Amino acid sequence: MRPTSLLLAATLLLAARLTLRMTACQPSPAEQREADARARLAGRRATDYALENIREEERAYIARELHDDLGQLLATLRVDMSLLLQQPAANPAMRELMTGMDERLLSAITSLRRIASNLRPRALDEGGLYFALQSLRHDFEQRHGIACKLEARECELVLNDRTSTAIYRIVQESLTNIARHADASHVRIALRRACGMLHVTIDDDGRGIAQSDMEKPASFGLLGMRERVWAIRGDIAITGSPRGTRIAIHLPLPE
Ligand SMILES: Nc1ncnc2c1ncn2[C@@H]1O[C@H](COP(=O)(O)OP(=O)(O)O)[C@@H](O)[C@H]1O
Ligand SMILES: [Mg+2]
Repeated sequence: MRPTSLLLAATLLLAARLTLRMTACQPSPAEQREADARARLAGRRATDYALENIREEERAYIARELHDDLGQLLATLRVDMSLLLQQPAANPAMRELMTGMDERLLSAITSLRRIASNLRPRALDEGGLYFALQSLRHDFEQRHGIACKLEARECELVLNDRTSTAIYRIVQESLTNIARHADASHVRIALRRACGMLHVTIDDDGRGIAQSDMEKPASFGLLGMRERVWAIRGDIAITGSPRGTRIAIHLPLPE
C-alpha cells in the first residue's frame, strides 16, 4: 500500500471511531429529558434549602425581639400595676378597673410567650432536640389526653441547628394533625441513628390518612413537611391504613 493510501485509511478509521464515540456519548431525547428534570429538581431543592434557612433565621429574630423587647415592657408594666394595687384605692370602681387591667396584662404576656415560642421554640436553644421533643410530647398529652411515647436517646440527637429545627417542626405538625384529624388514642415518635442516617417515624392508631387527603389542594401542612425533608436532602413516606397513619423519614447526617 502506498503511504498516501495508508494515511487516508488511518484518517478514515479515526474519523469513524470518533463518530462512533460521539454517537455513543450523545444522550437520547428521553435521557436528555430525564437529565433536565433531575437538574430542575436539584435546583428546586437547593432553593427550598436556602429559603427555609432564611425563614428560620427571620423567625428566630422576630421571636427574640418579641421576647426581649415587648416581653420586657409588658413585664415592667405588670410590676407597676402591682405597686398601684398596693396603694389604698381612691374608690372601689378604680380598684376593679386596675384588677381587670392586671389580668389582661397577664394574658398578653402569656400570648406573647406562646407566639414567640411557636416562632422559635426556646426549648431547642435551652436543652437541644431531645428536650424540645419531650416538652412537645408532654404538652400534647396534657392538652389532648392522647397517650404519646417518645423513643429516642438523647446522645443520638445532638444535631446541627438546621436538622434539629426541621425535625422539631415536622413532629410539631404531625402532632397537630393527629389532634385535629386522626381520632387516635396512642402516638409513638421514634428516632434512631444508624449508618450515618437518622430514621424518624411518627405512628398513630387513628382512622388512617387516605390518598385523597394527601392531594387536598389547600393542605399546606403535609406539603411543608415534605419540603422541609427535601431541603435537608432526606426522604419522607406518608402511609395510612385502617390501623392508623405512619410518617417515615430518612435523613443523611453530616459526619
Ligand atoms: N394523622 C392523620 N390521620 C388522619 N388524617 C390525617 C392525618 N394527618 C393528616 N390527615 C389528613 O390529611 C389532610 C392534610 O393535612 P395537612 O396538609 O396538614 O392540612 P390541614 O391539617 O391544614 O388540613 C388533613 O386535612 C387530613 O384530612
Ligand atoms: Mg395540618
